Amino acid sequence: MQAPRQVHTAVFPVAGLGTRFLPATKASPKEMLPIVDKPLIQYAVEEAYAAGVRHMVFVTGRSKRAIEDHFDTAYELESELEAAGKAELLAVVRAVQPADMDCTYVRQPRSLGLGHAVLCAAHIVGEHPFAVLLADDLMVGPPGGAPVLAQMVDAFASLGGSVLAVQQVPADQVRRYGIVAGTPAGQRLIGIERIVEKPAPEEAPSRMGVAGRYILTPRIFDEIRAQPPGAGGEIQLTDAIARLMQSERVYAYQYEGKRYDCGSKEGFLQATVELALQHPQMGAAFRDYLKALAF
Ligand code: G1P
Repeated sequence: MQAPRQVHTAVFPVAGLGTRFLPATKASPKEMLPIVDKPLIQYAVEEAYAAGVRHMVFVTGRSKRAIEDHFDTAYELESELEAAGKAELLAVVRAVQPADMDCTYVRQPRSLGLGHAVLCAAHIVGEHPFAVLLADDLMVGPPGGAPVLAQMVDAFASLGGSVLAVQQVPADQVRRYGIVAGTPAGQRLIGIERIVEKPAPEEAPSRMGVAGRYILTPRIFDEIRAQPPGAGGEIQLTDAIARLMQSERVYAYQYEGKRYDCGSKEGFLQATVELALQHPQMGAAFRDYLKALAF
């Protein structure tokens, strides 16, 4: 029996089309784009695993088969690496799916929004709190510190209410985010009083933007079901969270660490450069290469 404040399941909405990265994403999922040597989705799955999550639920769509293959055993590859004595590479390949991690796949047949994507996982999640991770947002914890979702799991264990990761965003970017406002509720915590999806700068209640990490109580599913389409004709998760706030406390957590918006080309390139610089094998050589570039 799962303890009520334990987070065992994570939902990864990965059905999006990735139009901002065409033509790269014409036939391949955007979540499989690599930052250095690992696909974006693997960073998110590893973050969930590090937070104690063992059941990964992917809400997929057409042309997303590569994600399922990535988290499955690659029998031919593994036996060839084994025969060639390439033990290190074999370990890299096998580490993608630890033995105690389960993956479930469910289809989102139409792009009806993030709220709808999360609802597609309702029958798998059941009546338990769960995490939602948007793989576009690559989150790196502070050096030597806990990854972002692990920080949120700790906050959830003490609060019991849903927790959303937030960060300050520039005024001219509030239109890209769910924006929250509320009152301080502890270290790094805000008790949310208002949340609005992608407001115009003059209507934004603050500059505190939601990053792609959520821990939600199962009541959110009822709120999504009751939710009429919002901004862009989509069923927004943000609007369902606003309804949830009428019956439960919802918190914003100002995470410690850094977020790369890998849904944009700029963020994707920034993540590539910064993670390459930190890469244990190639970091030093890459730093020398950048220094030698004439700007
Ligand atoms: C989604 C959410 C938004 C959140 C953002 C974080 O928007 O709807 O509230 O701030 O993720 O990345 P999207 O970026 O999918 O348009």
